[in-house]
Amino acid sequence: MNQLPTKVRIIDVGPRDGLQNEKQPVPAAIKIELVHRLQAAGLKEIEVTSYVSPKWVPQMADNHEVMAGITRLPGVRYSVLTPNMKGFEGAVSDKPDEIVVFGAASEAFSQKNINCSIAESIERFAPVVAAAKAAGIAVRGAMSCTVGCPYEGDVPAERVGYLAGLMKGIGVERVDVADTIGVGTPRKVQAAFEAALAHYSIDEVAGHFHDTYGQALSNTLAALELGVWNYQSSVSGLGGCPYAKGATGNVATEDLVYLLHGMGIDTGIDLGALVDAGVFISEQLGRGTPSRVARALLAKRDS
Ligand code: HMG
Ligand code: MG
Repeated sequence: MNQLPTKVRIIDVGPRDGLQNEKQPVPAAIKIELVHRLQAAGLKEIEVTSYVSPKWVPQMADNHEVMAGITRLPGVRYSVLTPNMKGFEGAVSDKPDEIVVFGAASEAFSQKNINCSIAESIERFAPVVAAAKAAGIAVRGAMSCTVGCPYEGDVPAERVGYLAGLMKGIGVERVDVADTIGVGTPRKVQAAFEAALAHYSIDEVAGHFHDTYGQALSNTLAALELGVWNYQSSVSGLGGCPYAKGATGNVATEDLVYLLHGMGIDTGIDLGALVDAGVFISEQLGRGTPSRVARALLAKRDS
């Protein structure tokens, strides 16, 4: 474990990945308040919304309102998902700091999620990446189903290497190794990272673990062992993907921060303020938090 990073950068993807799957409309004002609470807790990167078809993902239809409503803090990076030029054109006037193109290591998931093959997705992303760079906007690539797919089952690491190579080829600056349905275990996740690391440096890869099978923290530790220091999580463990039925939310940011701080790894995040942000959104959604750390700390506050 001699390669463990001393600091970690977390992107809270709760406002986007977390809320995209909510059945009931969540008012824009609540999403804006969530972003404000996350940045107040010390998050330096927040994935705010996506510019996708409102017929496919109605919850993100208020993207302009949310982006216009947030008060930006200097030093915080606000990212948004843009699957095609239409999405990019919608996003650009809202001045995101980073756009995210999202592809999949499995063909079936690519078809279900973005209605095209992996090769076609890269053709769609290429002009988006070029336009973003010309506008001075950073570009990230999310790689879904890097260990398992809801339609194809196990996904071999070679598929991750193939996708990462395509992303690199069109100029995507950094990539997320995503376990979309939370089926991964440490060695499989390490193999997926190693495949991505054939194309990207250790500073350009991030872990994005859904916690369906309760493996996300173990997988985080496995990625830390490789030196990975960028992670994505959702406050209060919000979320899921509409095209990955049964998959639960991302690992809770509260749980991730507790793990990292406990290992002496700096995140710059105030865990107490983060727990409060989680309480806020859980109350708005009318349900308790699945974060074990938040529940434990709240019980301690009460006693
Ligand atoms: P399509 O049907 O292939 O696109 O959708 P199309 O070009 O044929 O257009 C069809 C209609 O969609 C047209 O409207 C377009 O104008 C409209 P109509 O004429 O029928 O009224 N359209 C758009 N509208 C708004 N914004 C756009 C856009 N593009 C076309 N950007 C598309 C392709 C990708 C848009 C569609 O499949 C879609 O919106 N999919 C939703 C994908 C999504 O948001 N998934 C969840 C996020 S990914 C995720 O959660 C995984 C991640 O967290 C990592 C992980 O965990 O794995 C990132
Ligand atoms: Mg996700």
